[in-house]
Amino acid sequence: MEKIKVGIVGCGNISGIYFQNLLKFNNVEVAACADMLPAAAEAKGKEYRVRAVSVKELLADREIKIVVNLTIPKAHAEVALAALDAGKNVHNEKPLTIERKDARKILKLAKAKRLLVGCAPDTFLGGSHQACRKIMDDGLIGAPVAATAFMMGHGHENWHPAPEFYYKVGGGPMLDMGPYYVTALVNMLGPVKRVSGSSRITFEHRIITSEPKKGARIKVETPTHIAGTMDFANGAIGTVIMSFDVWAHTLPCIEIHGTKGSMQVPDPNGFGGEVRIKLAGDKDWKEMPAGFGYLMNSRGVGPADMAQALLEGRKNRCSGELAYHVLDVMHSFMDSSAAGRHIILKSKCEKPEPFPEGMEDYRME
Ligand SMILES: NC(=O)c1ccc[n+]([C@@H]2O[C@H](COP(=O)([O-])OP(=O)(O)OC[C@H]3O[C@@H](n4cnc5c(N)ncnc54)[C@H](O)[C@@H]3O)[C@@H](O)[C@H]2O)c1
Repeated sequence: MEKIKVGIVGCGNISGIYFQNLLKFNNVEVAACADMLPAAAEAKGKEYRVRAVSVKELLADREIKIVVNLTIPKAHAEVALAALDAGKNVHNEKPLTIERKDARKILKLAKAKRLLVGCAPDTFLGGSHQACRKIMDDGLIGAPVAATAFMMGHGHENWHPAPEFYYKVGGGPMLDMGPYYVTALVNMLGPVKRVSGSSRITFEHRIITSEPKKGARIKVETPTHIAGTMDFANGAIGTVIMSFDVWAHTLPCIEIHGTKGSMQVPDPNGFGGEVRIKLAGDKDWKEMPAGFGYLMNSRGVGPADMAQALLEGRKNRCSGELAYHVLDVMHSFMDSSAAGRHIILKSKCEKPEPFPEGMEDYRME
């Protein structure tokens, strides 16, 4: 089958799983990798037998059709705009950008150049999340009434080698982890029409306990605890907490409650996991069969779907419109807190197309 050439920009912490997975897809060839630190690109290039080049060389390579942008959030806009300028489709790691205005620039340029924009997370294409989507589409738990989404922990300074960005504007639990939760909810429930939120910074500084920066202090410049509600266009009401300020809790990642019953959704930062439903009158929760592929860590399935979209002349599932709506929702929690009122969303998106049942892993056809 025809393979679309992909170039990876940003060879840091998360890039390894993308190299591993993108090298397995039947519709993608990883043609080159680059990083502003040449040594980072060379190290990953050597490990995965991919040509390491400069960012400039990668963007000048006419054969590369998709840039997979795995840089830090602060660089997402600059790298994506440069990729589009060079005539390439681009798939960013999450969030699409830090600021909404940069995301709008990206979508506008892509539209003018007839190029595709994509964005992580692609976890909602995972087997368990597709099974949840089908349960909703089939009306198994009835009409959606409510959703809950809880991500609470104590941040990333105990494991990430360079955790500073998590505490600066563009980081924080909402922009870091919110994309998984909000995207999973939009995949199951559709777009959001308004948001309310309250947010705070609990600890003014964080001390890095991971190597190699152990002992360094980070000044916290973005909210680290955000609670809010989201009203979906379909009438369902979501309750959300995203926090880096909590040491321990027992709340589930995501639950959806419908007029006929409830569903437990697995961690949206993963592809698989148990899906359980309990209908009105049921004594116990029942585990639902997955029926879909991509149950293991399949990061990269989003860019592979973009490659297939290019081959078939269709839209990509992890689309720029979806990621922009998610970014708009996430900012609206913080904006609502600052303004002391609900925020009516200006952005809209369609529910992404579901994946076909029984699809084989790493094969796009
Ligand atoms: N680390 C994780 O577990 C994880 C998980 C999911 C998603 N992500 C997302 O992946 C992205 C990268 O995170 P990471 O943890 O790999 O960060 P990282 O700091 O480990 O790696 C980022 C790499 O991008 C390079 N880079 C930065 N600016 C650049 C630019 N302008 N041009 C070229 N290269 C540039 C850096 O030199 C670095 O090698 C972020 O958007 C993050 O939200 C990370």
